[in-house]
Amino acid sequence: MKLPELVAIPASSGEGLAAVDVRALEFADADEWDTRVRPSLPRGRPDAGWSWRQLFFLARLPFRRGLAIRAAEGVVGLAVYNASSHLLTDPRHSAFYVWYLSARPECSVKGIGRGLLYSIVREGMLSGAMGRISLHADPAGGDELLTLYRALGLAQVSAELPGYKRQPNDGRFFELSSTAVERFVEETQRRGMLG
Ligand SMILES: CC(C)(COP(=O)(O)OP(=O)(O)OC[C@H]1O[C@@H](n2cnc3c(N)ncnc32)[C@H](O)[C@@H]1OP(=O)(O)O)[C@@H](O)C(=O)NCCC(=O)NCCS
Repeated sequence: MKLPELVAIPASSGEGLAAVDVRALEFADADEWDTRVRPSLPRGRPDAGWSWRQLFFLARLPFRRGLAIRAAEGVVGLAVYNASSHLLTDPRHSAFYVWYLSARPECSVKGIGRGLLYSIVREGMLSGAMGRISLHADPAGGDELLTLYRALGLAQVSAELPGYKRQPNDGRFFELSSTAVERFVEETQRRGMLG
């Protein structure tokens, strides 16, 4: 199934939507983030110490991908993910595993996290993972990050299940299963973000 593209994100003024572009991550996006956005991130933010220039190269490894969302002021969102993973709740189901997400604070749009996840869901829909997503909420994000992923409609994986081969389950894994994907897409559509 082909889902519509992400074309807009609600304006942070609270009035209307602002047009955005989504593209495969380019070095220029990473470089712009590291030089113009990263220096102003609050120190405690999980991504304050990430170098997107380095993550750009991670995204070029086999089965890894990256994307950037750009608005009027330039780069506003970045993501790196593994296009060849599976759900923890049902390892027979393929999924895209989201490694890194960054949303620009205090900019023209609000809802960048949803826009990033939607764009990954859309790609997962095109390449056989049916839009399913798995991710681990960075411990540096504390309880706030858990609340944020729940607000987006992701389901928290039971801490009783085994984790991934190289990442034990500490109770901070989240998933978007096939049924949750439908709701997530509908909600994103309802907000007028899709073309
Ligand atoms: C994680 C991140 C990419 C999410 O992007 P975002 O643009 O903040 O997310 P959204 O605005 O789309 O918000 C997601 C939802 O959570 C809600 N939310 C946002 N901050 C929240 C908070 N502190 N507490 C509770 N809910 C919150 C939003 O209201 C929104 O719900 P809504 O769609 O019903 O309005 C962004 O916060 C970020 O870059 N964080 C720092 C880096 C990081 O932690 N990366 C992830 C590592 S796993």
